[in-house]
Amino acid sequence: MSMFVRKGRDVVIRRMIAEDIEEVREVGQIAWSDLAMHDVGRRFKYPKRSEKIIAAYLWKDPQGCFVAEEKGKIVGSAVCHVCGKVGWTGPLEVLPSYQDHGIGKRLLNACEARIIERGCAVIGLETLSHLPKNLHFYLSSGYRPDKTVLIMEKVLGHVDENVEQVREMTLASLDAGLEKVSRLSQQVHHQLDHSLDAEAILRKDLGHVYLLEDGDRTLGCALLHTYQRGEESAYSSVKAVLIDPAAPDPAAVLDRLLAKCEIGSLEEGKEKTITRFAVGDPQLYQRLLSRTYLLKGANLRLIKKGEYNERSRWSITSWAG
Ligand SMILES: CC(C)(COP(=O)(O)OP(=O)(O)OC[C@H]1O[C@@H](n2cnc3c(N)ncnc32)[C@H](O)[C@@H]1OP(=O)(O)O)[C@@H](O)C(=O)NCCC(=O)NCCS
Repeated sequence: MSMFVRKGRDVVIRRMIAEDIEEVREVGQIAWSDLAMHDVGRRFKYPKRSEKIIAAYLWKDPQGCFVAEEKGKIVGSAVCHVCGKVGWTGPLEVLPSYQDHGIGKRLLNACEARIIERGCAVIGLETLSHLPKNLHFYLSSGYRPDKTVLIMEKVLGHVDENVEQVREMTLASLDAGLEKVSRLSQQVHHQLDHSLDAEAILRKDLGHVYLLEDGDRTLGCALLHTYQRGEESAYSSVKAVLIDPAAPDPAAVLDRLLAKCEIGSLEEGKEKTITRFAVGDPQLYQRLLSRTYLLKGANLRLIKKGEYNERSRWSITSWAG
């Protein structure tokens, strides 16, 4: 018998269940802390991902969340998301001592199989653009670079803007509200649907969904997360702003929805808000700069199947968990 026993040989990939959440949080913390140490060369303990968001992933698609397990110990995890016919993977993490043994690829394959099973026309993801390992990992898995994703952050301060037309979606008006989020998503991209993400925000208490209405026309919506890595976090996150490309002044719709997100974040005691979006057009970047958002970093969007170009140049969307 060979003296060499391949690490990870006994690892099985299985569906995640609620009882795994605590271990999944630890795996994420260890994997990202290790990456930060190698990347910036100093010890840094990453905060654990919020229990709430992992529970929300499981609620959105219990068959789209996976763990890698060896003899009862969780050594990796991955989640996929299906927004209409657009499917993407993230977060995906493997314990450092188990990396480079094919476990990451097996988790990615499980996510892709689920995305395909759900009939997606677009398959993609976003990753750190400067890490050779991550780039190799996805390029060798058939992904091609698509767009740069900008990560921008704003230190919150008093907001003095008219947000009268913006109203908050509530559980009491859920069905009508979700129908509007669905319609706006499709106006941004015919295969996109963020209504399940909006529903998760309301049902799982992750933050707020705002709609900007003009009479009986909905011009835009914003999905805001305020839980952000543990309820004690000083950050909120603008997950999406979807704007009707035919709105008379789409940039003003963006401004008002962002203003409402900033007010909502301040009301929950947040000090900063963060957002990420794929740049097809520098005007969106310039608009955020004018709102005193600052560029903090960039990721890369990669696509394995299909094409993805949004109709609305003022919308904010990201494929990051
Ligand atoms: C990215 C991650 C999930 C990959 O998991 P993994 O189990 O190591 O992945 P695999 O073993 O399947 O594949 C790793 C590949 O990278 C290669 N690799 C390792 N170090 C490398 C480096 N410095 N440069 C280039 N390629 C590298 C390996 O050789 C392997 O490629 P191969 O299959 O062609 O031989 C894992 O590194 C991780 O958890 N990272 C921290 C969190 C993270 O970045 N997640 C992804 C966010 S989108």
